[in-house]
Amino acid sequence: MSSLSPEPATAVVNPLGIRVIDHLKFYVDDVEKWADFHERQLGLFRRAVGNAETGLVGQKAVVCGQGRVNFIFVEAEGDGDVAHSIRHFVDTHGCGVKDIAFRVDDVHHAMATATHRGAKVAEDKVEQEGFISGSIQTYGDTVHSFVKRSGRDFMPGFRNEAGGVESGEIHLMMIDHIVANVECMDEWVGFYESVFGFDETAHFDIQTGRSALMSKVVGDVEGYIRLPINEPSSDNSQIQEFLNEFKGAGVQHIALLTSNIVDTVVAMREQGAEFLSVPDTYYDALPSRVGEIKENLEDVKRAAVLVDRDRDDGYLLQLFTKPIFDRPTLFYEIIQRHGNSVGFGEGNFQALFEAIEREQEKRGSI
Ligand SMILES: [Fe+2]
Repeated sequence: MSSLSPEPATAVVNPLGIRVIDHLKFYVDDVEKWADFHERQLGLFRRAVGNAETGLVGQKAVVCGQGRVNFIFVEAEGDGDVAHSIRHFVDTHGCGVKDIAFRVDDVHHAMATATHRGAKVAEDKVEQEGFISGSIQTYGDTVHSFVKRSGRDFMPGFRNEAGGVESGEIHLMMIDHIVANVECMDEWVGFYESVFGFDETAHFDIQTGRSALMSKVVGDVEGYIRLPINEPSSDNSQIQEFLNEFKGAGVQHIALLTSNIVDTVVAMREQGAEFLSVPDTYYDALPSRVGEIKENLEDVKRAAVLVDRDRDDGYLLQLFTKPIFDRPTLFYEIIQRHGNSVGFGEGNFQALFEAIEREQEKRGSI
């Protein structure tokens, strides 16, 4: 064993000192409308607000959250560079995710290391009232901020909101994974490997009669951060449709982890959330496909939730919303994991497709 040869840069574990996903920032056309939408349908509650009065320049913003989920909705206000860049994003892409922000041990170290490893700076390090942040570019017009806070308020320019009522039924705990659609998957897998020191943890090549996509998952060794990256493998792929509609690469879906998906989905539906419909026939093959599960099958069927086993001792339940904003781009996934589940529901692509075919057979259309 040679102790003299230096370790390759990519072998350093967590070189940027990333702890958790701190928040996601969305650029939107109407901050009140979208904050209200998420408060109602996802049971998030208002944690902070920011505007000219609280010290924000060129923007107004609302922070909504639940558990460890924090979403910041930002709308352009007035003139100036900040307002102009927000408007330009929304005009080009529609509403969507601008920033996937990570909490780090040391922002200076994260920025210096990321740029040393090849990242481009989107915004230099700034320090204000004990809040330190900096950001680098990733796919499309998306950025990754690195943040560290020590103050009481959510961040400078915001005022915490007291008295938000947390939904009792919607049980969202944290972000499970964030999926990107890009033109060239391997370019961005390489970016996360070389800049973040992430590993490629899974690889899917999914082909159904209607859509084809390739996906690779990058993430940290501890498994807290999972970022699947999709690329289209056919012109009629849903990934290609996203790229056309969003006008480039961006965040396709955000999976939110719940402790009880049946309750979450039922409560979200009551608040008007719309999910992809699952044909009854999906459940015919479920016991033979996934084996025994803890949930009552009738409850799962009534809530129209999907199930997939990814290891002998692990399975997941999931369901996807319809696209959230005006363009058919971003949607949410609600997910619950049992045992040692680490998958993303790959088995459901095929199972859903076959269920739709069985529906068609029942109708006599194929
Ligand atoms: Fe997912």
